[in-house]
Amino acid sequence: MKVKAKAHPNIAMVKYWGKADDELRLPMNSSISITLDKLWTVTEVEFDKRFKEDKVVLSGGDFSKKERLRVVRHLDRIRGMAGVDIKARVVTRNNFKKASGMASSASGFAALSLAGSKAVGLNLSEKELSVLARLGSGSACRSIPGGIVIWHKGSDNKSSYAESIKIGKSLDIRVLLIEVDQDGEKEVGSTRGMDLAKTSPYFTQAIKRAERNLGKIKLAIRLNKWEKIGEVVETECFRLHVLAMTSKPAILYWEPASLRIMNKVFELREKGIMAYFTADAGPHIHVICKRKDEKQLMSELKKLVGVKQVISCGVGERARLLS
Ligand code: PMV
Repeated sequence: MKVKAKAHPNIAMVKYWGKADDELRLPMNSSISITLDKLWTVTEVEFDKRFKEDKVVLSGGDFSKKERLRVVRHLDRIRGMAGVDIKARVVTRNNFKKASGMASSASGFAALSLAGSKAVGLNLSEKELSVLARLGSGSACRSIPGGIVIWHKGSDNKSSYAESIKIGKSLDIRVLLIEVDQDGEKEVGSTRGMDLAKTSPYFTQAIKRAERNLGKIKLAIRLNKWEKIGEVVETECFRLHVLAMTSKPAILYWEPASLRIMNKVFELREKGIMAYFTADAGPHIHVICKRKDEKQLMSELKKLVGVKQVISCGVGERARLLS
């Protein structure tokens, strides 16, 4: 049986940048993200006894050997859960560039977990799917539920999973994903970046800070305090990047255009446009804003040198089956 699933990437408001357990991908701290509706991965999985080996295809692109191996390891997990030894065919498609801090591994492993588990005959709960997706890529566990999502760090495999946070309808939030000019894919992947984070002299403090920021943003979301939400989002962006910049060797993810965007957001805030930025492990910037400010922000940001495109996103749904 062929099963197709769709999942959206997410952008973290409170970041995951450090593992407590490498193999299980347990994070040092809990984190919170927004699911992005405009971006998606669609993955189709088929298990068949006639297949001699696993086939993994990225339509319109190529998987590296390492990426392919990561997918096959995930298929092994799924086979292990179902107690079968059948090979699979996986065809996956993104409507955005993979890697480069645009979170393709999050939507990728979320869609693969859902399609793969269904195709093999498993009926996993949302929590079980989130746990499975986490084993493929940590942030993927936050792409199983929809909306604003919290990943509880947990203390073992079963207790580390993500779920949606209940929010009032009034949380008016848009996310502008600003893609900047860059050569090739990101140089230091998040797995290696996170390993290196431990070499930063600020690591222990940074983890404590993440927990404090988590408390602050949860309260701000509940009380709908926009400026407080924005403050935490920017602080968390710098928390991740300071860890990266102070790792040994240091990692600098930003391009000149990334800084241009940040400065523009500061400048516009002075003029009363209450927007805030964040960035994952790459040069692209995400700006959170209110719907009323979206048009002006888009036109101001598109003008900046080195900005390739601005994609406007709303809050996305959970991972779901298409067939
Ligand atoms: O995609 P992963 O699981 O390797 O982790 C990436 C983590 C960041 O995207 C950089 C931050 C986050 O919390 O999403």
